[in-house]
Amino acid sequence: MVKKPQQLSKAEAAAELEELAAALARANTAYHTEDAPEISDAEYDALKRRNAAIESAFPHLKRPDSASDQVGAPVGETFSKVGHSVRMLSLSNAFDESDIRDFDETVRRYLGLRDGDDLAYCVEPKIDGLSLSLRYESGRLVQAATRGDGEIGENVTANAMTIGDIPHSISDAPDVLEVRGEVYMSHPDFAALNARAEVEGSKAFANPRNAAAGSLRQLDAEITRSRPLKFFAYAWGELSAPLADTQIAAIERMAALGFSTNPLTRICGNVSDALAHYREIEQQRSSLSFDIDGVVYKVNDLELQRRLGFRSTTPRWAIAHKFPAELAWTTLEAIDIQVGRTGALSPVARLQPVTVGGVVVSNATLHNEDYIAGRDSNGDPIRDGKDIREGDRVQVYRAGDVIPKVADVDLSQRPEGTEPYVFPDTCPECGSEAIREEGDAVRRCSGGIICPAQTVEKLKHFISRAAFDIDGLGAKQIEMFFNDADLPIREPADIFTLRERDAINLTRLKNRDGFGEKSVTNLFESIDKKRIIPLNRLIFSLGIRHVGESAAALLAANYNSWAKFETAITNARVGEGSDWEELVAIDGVGHVMAASLVTAFHQERERASIDRLVEQLDVQNVEPRATVDSPVAGKTVVFTGTLEKMTRAEAKARAEALGAKVSGSVSAKTDLVVAGPGAGSKAKKAEELGVELIDEDAWRELIGDA
Ligand code: IVH
Repeated sequence: MVKKPQQLSKAEAAAELEELAAALARANTAYHTEDAPEISDAEYDALKRRNAAIESAFPHLKRPDSASDQVGAPVGETFSKVGHSVRMLSLSNAFDESDIRDFDETVRRYLGLRDGDDLAYCVEPKIDGLSLSLRYESGRLVQAATRGDGEIGENVTANAMTIGDIPHSISDAPDVLEVRGEVYMSHPDFAALNARAEVEGSKAFANPRNAAAGSLRQLDAEITRSRPLKFFAYAWGELSAPLADTQIAAIERMAALGFSTNPLTRICGNVSDALAHYREIEQQRSSLSFDIDGVVYKVNDLELQRRLGFRSTTPRWAIAHKFPAELAWTTLEAIDIQVGRTGALSPVARLQPVTVGGVVVSNATLHNEDYIAGRDSNGDPIRDGKDIREGDRVQVYRAGDVIPKVADVDLSQRPEGTEPYVFPDTCPECGSEAIREEGDAVRRCSGGIICPAQTVEKLKHFISRAAFDIDGLGAKQIEMFFNDADLPIREPADIFTLRERDAINLTRLKNRDGFGEKSVTNLFESIDKKRIIPLNRLIFSLGIRHVGESAAALLAANYNSWAKFETAITNARVGEGSDWEELVAIDGVGHVMAASLVTAFHQERERASIDRLVEQLDVQNVEPRATVDSPVAGKTVVFTGTLEKMTRAEAKARAEALGAKVSGSVSAKTDLVVAGPGAGSKAKKAEELGVELIDEDAWRELIGDA
C-alpha cells in the first residue's frame, strides 16, 4: 500500500525520490525524443505530484535532478500542417451484438425502411494503425496527411512516399482523388524491427501501432524508409468524380487503381449476416499477420450513406464493433483522489502493474464513491454489494482505447485487517468542503477558483486540442508555469500577457534550462496566432460544466458574435425572462447546461477572468449554421403530421444541414410549418398565427430534393 508522504521514514523518502527521478526522466525521453510515450499524461502527472508531495514533506531531500525544477521540453520542430478538404472523422463504437442491432434499427428507422426490406452492409476489419489521407491530382500523389484533429493534420508526404503500398502515380483515376486508409506494421515486420532495436541497443516499441505511428512521424523520411510500413485503403475524401455507387465497389475500384485493400472485407445482405462475419473475423484474429481491434459495418449503398450523413464527429452510416474487453487480476495498492476541472473528485486505483491485452496497466478508474462501496446511483447493490478496499485483489478490464476500469474484487483473497475505503469529504488538493449534491453521483470540491487542482485542470482544458490548441504549450508546460514565481500563468489571460511580462523580467525565459531563443520565439508566436479565435472554440475553452464542444458550436451558431453571446448570457436569469427563453429554445441546449452557463457568467471572479481573456483576443464571428445557399437557412421550421417520402429524423437532419432550425412547437417565431397527412393542432396554430404552411412535396421542391 502506498504511504502518505508524512508516514515515510527519511530513508524511504530518499529511496522513493530516487525512483521517481528515474521514472520521470524515462517518461520524458520516451515522450519527447522517442515519440513513444510509455505512460499516460495522467500517470505522468501523478508521478510528478507524488514527487512534489514527498519533497514538500522532506525539503532537504530534494534532489538536484528533481523533476520539479525541470521545465517542459523545448518546442520541437514539427511537420507542417494541412487542412483536410473533407474532414477525417472517427467512428462510434459498440461492444456487443445488441448495440449493433440497435444501430441497424436506428439506420432503418431513419431511412424509413420497412420490416422486410434488407439493408446491406460492407463489413471490414478495423485495422489498428493510424489513418492517412493521400491526395492525388491528375493521377500524381501530391500530399499525404495524418488525421490530426480531423480538420487539420500533419503533412507527411515525403514519408508516405517511402511506403511500398502507396503508389506515386495512378491512371484512370478522377482528377482529384483522396484515398484514405490505415498505415500499419505487420507482426513479422514488427518483431524484426524490435529484434534489430535490441541488437542496436535502442528502445523497443510497445506494439505494432506505436511502431507504425513512430515510424511514419519521423522528421527524416529515410528513417521511415527503413521501417516496413504497409497501407490498406478503405475510404476517401475529396473526389472530382464518384468512385462507384456502393462502398464495396468503391473499395474494388481503389484496388483496381493499385491500392491494397483488406481481403477480409465482405458484403453482407443484412445485420445478421454482418454479425456472422464479425464472428468469423474474430475467430481468425489471432492468426492474422496484423492487429485488428474490431470490425467496421458500413451501409453499402453510397446514396443511403449520403442521406444518413454525419453527426458532429461520426458518420450515421457506420459503426465499429470492437472485440470484447480484456481482463486481468492484480492488487489494488492504493486509492488516490484526482480533482478535475469542474471539481469532481475521481477515485483512481493505483495497481500493481499488470498486462491487459498487451498493454501494461497501473492505473484504473473506480468511477465514484458509490462504485467503491458496491452500489449503483440508486443505492442498489452492484458486484453483489462487495466493496473495494486498498490491498484487495481486483479484476481490471480494458475495452478499446478507453481508460481501464476495476470491474470486480475477489473477497477470498482480501488481506486481514483491511478497512472499507472512506471517501474524503474535503478536497485533497485545497481542503475545501467536497459536496455531493442530490442526484449527482459525483462529489465535488466547493473551492472553485481557490482550488489549485481545478484551476490547473481548467487551464489544461483551455489549451487542449479542441480549445486553443497552442503549439508548444501543453499540459506539462501549464503545470510548470502555474507554479512559476517569475512568470506565472494562473488564468487563461496570463498566457496572452506572457511575452510582455517576460520582457520586463530579470531572468528571461530564453535563458532558462530547457528553453532557448528559438523555442521561446516559437512559443510566443504560436500564442499570438491563437489571439484570433472562432467564437465556438472560445466558448468551449472556458471549461464551463456541461458546455462541451458541440454545445459550444450550437451556442456560437445561435448568437454569432461574442458581443451578442455575452450580452444575452449576462442578461439571462435562470428560469425566467426572454434571454433565458431564447437560450433554452436552442435545439440541443437543455436547462441544466443553460443554468450552468448563466451561473458561471454571474460569478464575479470567473466573469472578470473571462473579460480579461477576451480583452486579449480577436473573437471571430461564427456564421449562422450553414449559410449554405439555401432558401431555408436561418429559418425556424416545424414538421408535423406524417411524412411520406422521408422519416422525421431524416427531414430534421436535412433541414439542419441546410441551415434551418427545427423546432417541435409552433410559435410566432416559426417561419414555416411542413404538414403531412394527419397534422392537427400545430397546423391549426400555424394558420391562426399566419405562419406559412406547406406540404411535404412543396418542402422537397423548396429544398431541391424533388
Ligand atoms: S472508416 C468516416 N474503416 O478507425 C469513417 N476506419 O475509430 C472513417 N479504421 O480513424 C473511418 N479500419 O483510423 C474506417 N475499415 C476501416 C477502418 C477504420 C481502421 C480506423 C481509422 C479511423 C478509426 C475510427
